[in-house]
Amino acid sequence: MSLKIAVQMDPIERINIRGDSTFALLLEAQRRGHAVSYYTPDRMALTDGRLFAAVQTLMVRDQVGDHFALGEAQRTELAEFDVVLLRQDPPFDLAYVTTTHLLERIAPHTLVVNDPTQVRNAPEKLFVMDFPDLMPPTLITRDLTEIKAFRVLHGDIVMKPLYGKGGEAVFRLAPQDLNFGSLYDLFAVTFREQWVVQKFLPAVREGDKRIILVDGEFGGAVNRVPAADDLRSNMVRGGAPKATDLTARERDICARIGPALRERGLLFVGIDVIDGFLTEINVTSPTGIRAIKALGGPDVAAMIWDRIEAKRA
Ligand SMILES: Nc1ncnc2c1ncn2[C@@H]1O[C@H](COP(=O)(O)OP(=O)(O)O)[C@@H](O)[C@H]1O
Ligand SMILES: [Mg+2]
Repeated sequence: MSLKIAVQMDPIERINIRGDSTFALLLEAQRRGHAVSYYTPDRMALTDGRLFAAVQTLMVRDQVGDHFALGEAQRTELAEFDVVLLRQDPPFDLAYVTTTHLLERIAPHTLVVNDPTQVRNAPEKLFVMDFPDLMPPTLITRDLTEIKAFRVLHGDIVMKPLYGKGGEAVFRLAPQDLNFGSLYDLFAVTFREQWVVQKFLPAVREGDKRIILVDGEFGGAVNRVPAADDLRSNMVRGGAPKATDLTARERDICARIGPALRERGLLFVGIDVIDGFLTEINVTSPTGIRAIKALGGPDVAAMIWDRIEAKRA
């Protein structure tokens, strides 16, 4: 089976191919003989009810410094593709949201992965609040009284932006931390949105586990252990990827949320678990599949294409 595939992503010349999940998907698509095209979100256009993009054919190579070749740009109706991969990186801002509105025009005639409507409805740190019993105690607010009360109840807390990514502005506040007032003020002027207040999980020292779910089923996992001088486990912040298995509790978490993901057309999802507590459900552009394979784990890219091909068969 050969599918016509378009990938909507950030400029391909800038990606780090060693860690980029999209790149792993593209290599596997090419290996399977699918025809792969590429465009960036800023080359999309909606007019007369039809969605176009300046699309270029794409060849990929797993070689740092020489990882792609592009054809000439051609204005193409996106409904002509069998599959569009929605893969630009956050920030999850109005530019991102707008592209989900645009892609809604071609779905489900074209299979958009992940489903654009559901991506819009599932910001990673809000969607997860559907599963409070799997999470650490968590509060979404910008109300000072609420945060003070939460702090009294839980003592050691973390404050982080609701639409942060890659560990941006994640702070731990110990019970007596005198910086709380100033940090509150700083958040209040910096962010227009509510933010996340969460019980601090000391076992983050052992790592923050990224678990990939493919169409609601366990795909693979990688543990990320923070650097000795940092709270944040994100690999872009120096977190070290380690091979890992799932605990019984983590299997339960997958079993609980899997059906909700499948129902929503969220085919490629990365969840984050610290000490058995679910903290994020990442549906925009999850990372981890290259690290999982590099550490001897399963080929998640192959699983994803198996599912996509089954849906298009
Ligand atoms: N409640 C928490 N307890 C301990 N560490 C946390 C907590 N929340 C976040 N962290 C640390 O900060 C990192 C980034 O936070 P996360 O919520 O995953 O946001 P991001 O979207 O920026 O990755 C986590 O990988 C973890 O190392
Ligand atoms: Mg995270």
